Order: sequence, then C-alpha cells, then structure tokens
Amino acid sequence: MKFFIDTANVDEIREANDMGIICGVTTNPSLIAKEGRDYKTVLKEIAGIVDGAISGEVKATTTDAEGMIREGREIAAIHPNMVVKIPMTAEGLKAIKVLHSEGIKTNCTLIFTANQALLAARAGATYVSPFLGRLDDISTRGVDLIRDIADIFAVADDIDTKIICASIRNPMHITDCALAGADIATVPFKVLRQMINHPLTDAGIVKFQEDYKAVFGE
Ligand code: G3P
Repeated sequence: MKFFIDTANVDEIREANDMGIICGVTTNPSLIAKEGRDYKTVLKEIAGIVDGAISGEVKATTTDAEGMIREGREIAAIHPNMVVKIPMTAEGLKAIKVLHSEGIKTNCTLIFTANQALLAARAGATYVSPFLGRLDDISTRGVDLIRDIADIFAVADDIDTKIICASIRNPMHITDCALAGADIATVPFKVLRQMINHPLTDAGIVKFQEDYKAVFGE
C-alpha cells in the first residue's frame, strides 16, 4: 500500500515529501478552505512539490455534470499530475465518464458502499475514495468496506481503478487498510507523524547514545 498525504498545507506536504514516504496528495473543499488561499494557486504549488497524483476537487457547490466537466478540465490543465476529484452522485458519474473519455484522471470521493465503488469504477474512475473514519464514527466498521471493495475489484479482472482509503484517523486504520488490500491510504500529516513514533524506538536511541558516550564521549 502506498501513501498520499491528505492536506492542502504546503509546509506539511513539503515535510512529508522530504521524508520520501508519499507519492501523491489529496485535497478537498474543507481542506482548501482551511488554508484560506486561492484554490488554483495552492494546487499549482502542491504540484511543484510532489511528483505524483494530486487530487483537486470540483467546487462543493457545483452539482451538475456539465459544471463538473468544465471545472474538471480546468483542474486537469493546472498540471499533468492533476486528478479531478468528483463526488459520488449520478451527475458525478456522468462527469467521470466524459473526463475519462478525454484521458483526464478522476478520483470518485465520498464512497460509503461497495456498490458505489463499483459504479465509479465502471464509469471510468481512476481512483475511488472510501471514507473509513466517517463510517467508524457511526458505529460501522470502515475497514470492512475497504476489504469488500478490494475483493470485488480483484474478482473483476477488467477493473484498474485504485482504492484510496480516505478519512483516516489513526495509525491502526493504516495497518487495517493495508491488510484489507487497499492500494493507497491518504493520510493526514498528524497520523503520518504518529506512525513514525514508538516509545521503544525513543528509549533505544537514548540507550545507544548513553552507551556510546560512556566509551567515546561526545
Ligand atoms: O479527503 C477526504 C477525507 O480524508 C476526509 O476525512 O477526517 O474529514 O472524515 P475526514
């Protein structure tokens, strides 16, 4: 399983990219709004940092296929690595179909059932984004959805759509998604940091330093 970072904060993106752990970025209207910066400027800057798939979502207020297609083309024109993120609706599926026929990559977002994922794949989505944490929030095991989608895509040997696990809230989500057969997890910076740390690693570093200093000094 590969990692994308789920943020529109360029400092976080730079830091994660420098560690060599991410190969893509996902943003959404809430994440872009949080940064309070011009949408296209942010996406352009992100594309200049990470050499990989960058998901930029159509406007949250655009609900018709025609509008999504128009915005999708604009997003795709920002950089060759851009992926157009489109919500899982009937109009969204129409937009995915058209953009796919034009060779534009899409990421179908707000996926909460295996059926939705299968529909998006059939419409031509490059990626589907099932939201794990938001299912867990309502007492439904999110990882079961990831496993179901992975199984269904594996059975259908003509589906190339990749599964991006989204709405990741903690490091255990990552292990669960990897075991369930996900292709990618898009991870908030905070969770990436949590994944690095372990108290025994910290204690081991201190012990190595003490033992080294005891014999060789600083
Ligand atoms: O990018 C979409 C997704 O990751 C949102 O996560 O935490 O708002 O459910 P969350």
